[in-house]
Amino acid sequence: MRRERQSRVRVPAGRSQRPVDSPAGQRPVPVDQQLEVPFDVAQPAVDAPPAVAAAKPGEELPRAEAQPRIRREAARVATGPRVAADGEARQRGVTRRGTAARQGRSRASVASGSSGGDIAQVMASKQREISISEFFAKNRHLLGFDNPAKALLTTVKEAVDNALDACDEAGILPEIEVQLEQLEEERFRVTVEDNGPGIVRNQIPKIFGKLLYGSKFHALKQSRGQQGIGISAAGMYGLLTTGKPVEITSRAGTGRPAHHFEVVINTEKNTPDTLVDTTVEWDKPHGTRVAITMQGLYKKGRHSIDGYLLQVAVANPHATITYISPGEEGGEERLVYARTAEEPPREPRAIKPHPHGVELGIFLKMMQNSSARSLRAFLKEEFSRVGDKVITDLVKEVTAAGLQVTAGTPPRRVPVRDAEALHTALGRVKIMAPPTDCLSPIGEDLLLAALRQRVPQAHFYTAVTRPPAVYRGNPFQIEVALAYGGDLPADALAEVYRYANRVPLQYQRSACAMTKAVVDLPWRNYKIPQSKGALPTGPLVLVIHIASVWVPFTSESKEAVAHYPEILHEIRLALQESGRRLGGHIGHSRRVAEEEQKRSYIQKYIPHIGIALQEILRLTDKERERTVATLTATLERSRRM
Ligand SMILES: Nc1ncnc2c1ncn2[C@@H]1O[C@H](COP(=O)(O)OP(=O)(O)OP(=O)(O)O)[C@@H](O)[C@H]1O
Ligand SMILES: [Mg+2]
Repeated sequence: MRRERQSRVRVPAGRSQRPVDSPAGQRPVPVDQQLEVPFDVAQPAVDAPPAVAAAKPGEELPRAEAQPRIRREAARVATGPRVAADGEARQRGVTRRGTAARQGRSRASVASGSSGGDIAQVMASKQREISISEFFAKNRHLLGFDNPAKALLTTVKEAVDNALDACDEAGILPEIEVQLEQLEEERFRVTVEDNGPGIVRNQIPKIFGKLLYGSKFHALKQSRGQQGIGISAAGMYGLLTTGKPVEITSRAGTGRPAHHFEVVINTEKNTPDTLVDTTVEWDKPHGTRVAITMQGLYKKGRHSIDGYLLQVAVANPHATITYISPGEEGGEERLVYARTAEEPPREPRAIKPHPHGVELGIFLKMMQNSSARSLRAFLKEEFSRVGDKVITDLVKEVTAAGLQVTAGTPPRRVPVRDAEALHTALGRVKIMAPPTDCLSPIGEDLLLAALRQRVPQAHFYTAVTRPPAVYRGNPFQIEVALAYGGDLPADALAEVYRYANRVPLQYQRSACAMTKAVVDLPWRNYKIPQSKGALPTGPLVLVIHIASVWVPFTSESKEAVAHYPEILHEIRLALQESGRRLGGHIGHSRRVAEEEQKRSYIQKYIPHIGIALQEILRLTDKERERTVATLTATLERSRRM
């Protein structure tokens, strides 16, 4: 780690614009994998009747005879409490004549059953599609933008995740620069620059100006991003709080132009609006630079960007990360986490879903969409680990259940009821666990080396990488590392660094399966004090990592891992193993300390005993020395027994 002054890369504005395809010599994020993710919330909840659906809110409704009542009912819905108060006044006789007339009408309309229908019409006139970006603009806390301090960290996180993902996918050792500039008291500009494969020009507006657009959602392989929301949500937050667009500069390979874009999201439509689209001079051969201006609050400490990047460095020893932050007197401070591994991690391979992990609804949809000629071909092509033996076993199960379908039936012809039974039968057939080359754990050696370097004040380190396991058909792998003792604070609760696919999780600690597994482990068995229902106490830093093709987060902000029993079990096993090693180390250290103590007693007291014996027994000096030597040898022997 070193601190130095900063020198900024300047990007002069260029002139022409030219489309580019894919980076030369690198493995780019394939464009055809950058897909729009379907999201059911965006569908209209109810199909409104055509006449009403045509009316926009505030417009006159088309059916003349329905209008007066509809408007009145609408007023009632809109001003509920006041109307109720008016109602009370009327009941007290303040407007007796009107009341009687209205009561009569109201009874008549209830009797005719038209009132309920009218309200439904009014409601129908208001029912319309909600765009996903409108939804998340209102519910920004779901994406980790609850307050200005957290929003700043979330933005850095999303951009750094993407930069690391892109570099790993291209097999490039990441060089990432994060810069935070304070523009006003609560206004910042976050810039993250990477040396990744870059982004193809046509894709830039959608990636940064459309929620649910990405290359990772449909691929079953380990990556930091999953949902296709991260960076566009950060851009949307910037737009909502400052009105500024996201600025992107990207070059998709040596010899290709560097494109510069300024993009804003149209939240009503969830579509990008491009404000600037040009080419620029840029000294980077390939890579991407994203800048977001936003409202924020800069804090040091546990949830700070500094702390976050330190944790990123622990789990990504192959990356060099530079952090430029606001320094004293308007200056800048530069912090560099240099890489400790010279090899990029093994590129995980995408796998097909495992039959035991596919839910019924998805299974039915896959069957309907399949163009396979037979069930046999469908199952073999669409799923992992389905071979002839599985098909034979499945046919036996299906026949026993009395179904008409055979291995040769085209999947689209299977009736829904039979498909359900087929899904159940598939669950009963023994199928090999899914392949695990879709995972890329950090590994015990690298984890140990990183922990030693980033937490150097401890004196005992250990790491455990568990073999891969499966939850809901998704392969996952747990790793645990710990640092203990030395100058770590002895009277504080243990520090737990949680990671999912190498991304540090900073918030919702108590909702996370990892915290639960740590709290539930009886740490006293490993000689570490622990209060009931609490984290262990002592000079201890724990690192827990889950690597999976799909990390089951508890929300879209990806802050805590859900409590799947299989995941909890694996974390427990990894903690137990590292706990045993730690317990062994503490036990050994205590024994050594006790021995030292005893030895010091012997060395301290035996010469005095020799003098006393000399006086009592009138020994010569030689006899005294012999006696002292014999006593020391006897006590040393008994100490070792
Ligand atoms: N720095 C970058 N270099 C190359 N491609 C990028 C970069 N940043 C984003 N992308 C592409 O843009 C897509 C969308 O990014 P975004 O962060 O919105 O979603 P995601 O990473 O797929 O998922 P998540 O919402 O979980 O972060 C990515 O899937 C990736 O294909
Ligand atoms: Mg992302």
